[in-house]
Amino acid sequence: MKNISRNAPCPCGSGKKFKKCHLSQDKQNNKRWGKGNRTGIIIKTKEQIEGIRKSSQLTCKILDLLEEQIRPGITTNEINEWVHDYTIDNGAYPAPLNYRGFPKSVCTSLNEVICHGIPDETVLKDGDILNVDVTCILDGYYGDSNRMYLIGNVSEEAKTLSRVAKECLYLGIEQVKPFNTIGDIGFAIQEYAENKGFSVVRDFCGHGVGIEFHEDPQVPHYGDPKTGPVLTPNMVFTIEPMINMGRYESRILADRWTAVTADGSLSAQWEHTLLVTEDGVEVLTESVKQ
Ligand code: MF3
Ligand code: CO
Ligand code: CO
Repeated sequence: MKNISRNAPCPCGSGKKFKKCHLSQDKQNNKRWGKGNRTGIIIKTKEQIEGIRKSSQLTCKILDLLEEQIRPGITTNEINEWVHDYTIDNGAYPAPLNYRGFPKSVCTSLNEVICHGIPDETVLKDGDILNVDVTCILDGYYGDSNRMYLIGNVSEEAKTLSRVAKECLYLGIEQVKPFNTIGDIGFAIQEYAENKGFSVVRDFCGHGVGIEFHEDPQVPHYGDPKTGPVLTPNMVFTIEPMINMGRYESRILADRWTAVTADGSLSAQWEHTLLVTEDGVEVLTESVKQ
């Protein structure tokens, strides 16, 4: 962030004034990383990381529970109710609900929907591929993750798309360590996806997360090595590659949320919330074996 005045709108998009929102975190950033740090990236404290870890673990648990419930014949509205109730029952709040006017508690993105699908009365049928994107707010901290669910018997090509999207996520995660860059992540993902004959969505990115739903930096799933912000310990952000069977272009439906592939081809996505550690990465939304 370069010299944002105290009364200007906060760059996080909250609509609040900078001084009422991210100014104190920006100061903390500068204290820790020196006055030169004007990136807008919030370096989290130990206490914040513990809170984000707990919230991320709840998000993971909700996605696990859905594995047992999602099957042909149910509607995406039912998924919305399950996610909403699990979240509230665990003392948390579903971040999507009323976020910039989003009307439901979870995103359900079916087949050619890239992301931000709104749950409705659509009945899941054999052969569908569905992304469910869950974000919890627990004690004020955000944990954001999504997965693909294969409905009944899915075609080999759709299975391959889902598997490649997941491999893209993990190739991105392999790049997460101190002194690598955000560009290293996008490069690893783009190279792999395009080699498989698929395309990488440009219009939506991963993002800093934890204190707010969407923080700096943006994390594109394409790009060049050694470009973009440098990764430093205690940064928290998502990687969430959206991979299309056909071309990468997207368009938004009249509901102003649902993003679909412009060419109508299938799209798949996987997402984790990640912590940069002293020597690598911790996948906060992955289940910890106890
Ligand atoms: N969870 C999505 C992400 O990964 C954001 C959803 S915004 C909503 O960034 F309003 F659609 F819920
Ligand atoms: Co996200
Ligand atoms: Co998400």
